[in-house]
Amino acid sequence: MDKSVAVVLAAGMGTRMKSDVPKMLHPVCGKPMLLYVVDALEEAKTERIITVLGHEAGRVQEIIRGRSESVPQLEPLGTGHALIQALPALEAYEEGDCLVLCGDTPLIRGETLRDLRYAHREAGAAATLLTARLMDPFGYGRVIREGRGENPPIIDIVEERDATPQIKQIREINTGAYCFDLRYLKEGLASLKPANAQGEYYLTDLIRYLVGRGLRTESLVLADPGEAMGVNDRAQLAEAEARMRRRILRRHMLEGVTIRDPESTYIDDGVSIGSDTVLEPGVILSGRCVIGRRCQIGPWVRMSGSRLGDDTVVTQAAIMESEVGGHCVIGPYSYIRPETVLSDYVKIGDFVELKKTTVAAGAKIPHLSYVGDSTVGSRVNVGAGTITCNYDGKDKHATVFEDDSFIGSNSNFVAPVRVGKGAYVGAGSTITKDVPPGSLAVARGKQKIIEHWHQNGKD
Ligand code: UD1
Ligand code: CA
Repeated sequence: MDKSVAVVLAAGMGTRMKSDVPKMLHPVCGKPMLLYVVDALEEAKTERIITVLGHEAGRVQEIIRGRSESVPQLEPLGTGHALIQALPALEAYEEGDCLVLCGDTPLIRGETLRDLRYAHREAGAAATLLTARLMDPFGYGRVIREGRGENPPIIDIVEERDATPQIKQIREINTGAYCFDLRYLKEGLASLKPANAQGEYYLTDLIRYLVGRGLRTESLVLADPGEAMGVNDRAQLAEAEARMRRRILRRHMLEGVTIRDPESTYIDDGVSIGSDTVLEPGVILSGRCVIGRRCQIGPWVRMSGSRLGDDTVVTQAAIMESEVGGHCVIGPYSYIRPETVLSDYVKIGDFVELKKTTVAAGAKIPHLSYVGDSTVGSRVNVGAGTITCNYDGKDKHATVFEDDSFIGSNSNFVAPVRVGKGAYVGAGSTITKDVPPGSLAVARGKQKIIEHWHQNGKD
């Protein structure tokens, strides 16, 4: 089989997004849309991927580095002009075929691209077009066929802007994915002229050229028209996200994850979840989350870029860029901020905020605490209302609770400070000096009793 090559067109201005961010970098379920196209090409075993970049090429190049080479299109003069920029890179190929895709069609599947290449090779066509029949074809190029039968020969593609009312009725659209015979692609590109409503070089004009040369353009009609979706504006971005989200949820469900309410569950691309984990309503998992088996998550949990061991329960909590062990119980109303590491069998309860803190196995911080820049040893019990005073207005300082220490309720720890192994801190203490192992520290005002206060008429 020939070495497989593909060109991705990604140099458009993305004007309709009305954004300072290049369109290709807008995320769909947490991942820049262009990367879905690169993924699909890799899945379809494409050995060489050439991406045409324009507007803010540097930022886009960054995300495809190592996976695709890039060629510049200095002026966005249309999809045909973009493909012409890739010709020098295609010079090495005398024959064979070439996939051409748009970078703004993130729903396209690798399997489909494999089928497209296969159909093209089987038919020995000059070009094979991936098409879809849509209920609402507005905005897409329409596929013009002429003749009899179910799929008569394709003779042209007409853009929405150039279409007559009659052509606008056609529901079969050009998805923007093609497989070309390289010989005819090169020949056709040499003949391309800007002759349309936009004064652009349309890649789609190649089809008419090939037909004029007496060559055949075949088609592969998408079984799932949802894959065709192109993202030109924010409304289409939201629709692409909704479709991708359903696809991701389904994949997890088929892998053994219970999702009680898919309507209110949001999982980014790249999240992994062990089987028999149950997601209750209102769960948002973003970034690279890795979740173990048999966990119970939700309702109302937001996690980003975090790991969770097996058998952990999380309710109504936010966990950001942190690591949580197995058999932990988190929430309700816990806020776990970046760089926190919890070992196994840790309990973090209601209204507890942790930041950059390490908690060893079996420790508990059950209520109303702020623990930051701290190390909490094994089996430590941190009482309700404990506050680490980690910030002196200039720098952050560390607090250490060694193994088996017991922190009484409503205590403050003016960091840097250390509570030794097995030591006790009396409730209501403000600890400013290290507490030696095994000792008791009490740092609060002594209780005074004034007898007969009421009878003395003082009240
Ligand atoms: C294009 C097709 C249309 C098809 C639709 C599918 C043409 C003329 N039209 O229309 O038939 O139905 O895609 O989604 O091809 N690009 C460049 N350089 C340019 C212009 C565009 O690299 O100068 C890139 C864009 O970044 C984008 C792709 O080509 O990824 C398509 O361009 P876009 O302007 O979105 O074309 P559509 O109007 O969607
Ligand atoms: Ca488009």
